[in-house]
Amino acid sequence: IAPKAVRGTIFFLTEDPGTTIDPVKSYQYYDDGILVLNDDGHILDVGYATEMHSKYQLAAHTVLNYSGKFIFPGFIDTHTHYPQSEIIAAFGEQLTHWLDKYIYPTEAHFADKSYASSASRFFLNELLDNGTTTALVFGTVHKTSVNALFEEAEKLNMRIIGGKIMMDRNAPHYLLDTPETTYIESQALIETWHNKGRIQYAVTPRFAITSSPEQLAVAAKLFHAYNGVYLQTHISENLSEVMHAKQLFPASKNYLSIYDDFGLVGPRAIFAHGVHLTDEEFSLLAKKKATISFCPTSNLFLGSGLFDFRKAQQENCHLGLGTDIGAGTSFSMFQTLNEAYKIVQLHKAYTDTPQNEITLTPFKAFYLATLGAARALYLGDKLGSLQPGKEGDFIVLDLEAIPLLKFRLQKTQSLADRLFALMMLADDRTVEAFYLMGKRWQKVDRPRF
Ligand code: GUN
Ligand code: FE
Repeated sequence: IAPKAVRGTIFFLTEDPGTTIDPVKSYQYYDDGILVLNDDGHILDVGYATEMHSKYQLAAHTVLNYSGKFIFPGFIDTHTHYPQSEIIAAFGEQLTHWLDKYIYPTEAHFADKSYASSASRFFLNELLDNGTTTALVFGTVHKTSVNALFEEAEKLNMRIIGGKIMMDRNAPHYLLDTPETTYIESQALIETWHNKGRIQYAVTPRFAITSSPEQLAVAAKLFHAYNGVYLQTHISENLSEVMHAKQLFPASKNYLSIYDDFGLVGPRAIFAHGVHLTDEEFSLLAKKKATISFCPTSNLFLGSGLFDFRKAQQENCHLGLGTDIGAGTSFSMFQTLNEAYKIVQLHKAYTDTPQNEITLTPFKAFYLATLGAARALYLGDKLGSLQPGKEGDFIVLDLEAIPLLKFRLQKTQSLADRLFALMMLADDRTVEAFYLMGKRWQKVDRPRF
């Protein structure tokens, strides 16, 4: 039986910490804390252990003791592709050739339901082992790929947002749909799955290059017809991609306006990458309250470029982080933050950014991986922190599981330094357990691929 409460060192953000190094008012930290859960898996309360004990008269056997371990909200991955897990670390190409040579042939397998189901199980296990409890996920063009993903997520009661890729041109014929079939299939998926338990749907045109104008119009129609449905796509990842997109849509002012001209830019629309966005595009994204998913490991791996984090922050853009598996090279949000930090550092070397300007702070980094992502997905009332009323999705971290991290932490003083050491040195080894809607899973409990 799931325990009613867990005890440990509890940390979560409650506000955007901005660029302040130690933004005291934007987080809660309980060195010895207790998180109390409702029977339905929501968070009832959180506070110091002594206080929670007397307030709720907690019997000892109802409190699971993780003393000395960290309790964090589960991480949120705002951009990834489950069918690409098996093709991670494919050598030597940049975006276009990488898609042609590795990705399209791989995605062809996902017409097969049992293939898609076992790949879904592998993917969800990997997410959870890495402490990621929610993700915004691409399937393939096949409707069955999304049924498989959602069925497996439903078994775990995991909050997953996903969708069927829409693509009707500039890709191999065996992966193409049409504006008509994409409409019928996406609509069927929405009606079966959207808001079923914790599943939500995202309308998923792959990117402007692989959709005809007619298909982008269909995407907009679906996006606006259903309450709370998301839109996910790619934008300005690679310079030759940007050129090709503009050639295909000569009437549009820039890459973002291709999507905007079809009514695809707004709240709940998530654009992956945005490495080569212009100032004008950043402002429009912010104004329309759309979200950018920053995918550092992917941008480095494919040599796409250095995301302008400073610009995104100045414009107050909604921002999340994405692993972008399989162009990204790690499921770990710690490793994603590690490379995000390095990109922000490196960006200074290539721009007129003052060298002493504050970079990606640890508080901001963990905000982006939790509450910031939840807010960018308009799920800030449900996810991203451990405040009362939120869904009980959290992770337990054993910081002694990695010798180097343990060694380094002995020399750190402040919470900021400890968090920074985590974001540089932690990975899935630290994730001891995770909870989905208050239900505990340990790594050993789950069936393997
Ligand atoms: N752009 C269009 N499709 C893809 C994809 O599958 N991965 C990445 N990284 N970029 C894309
Ligand atoms: Fe992607």
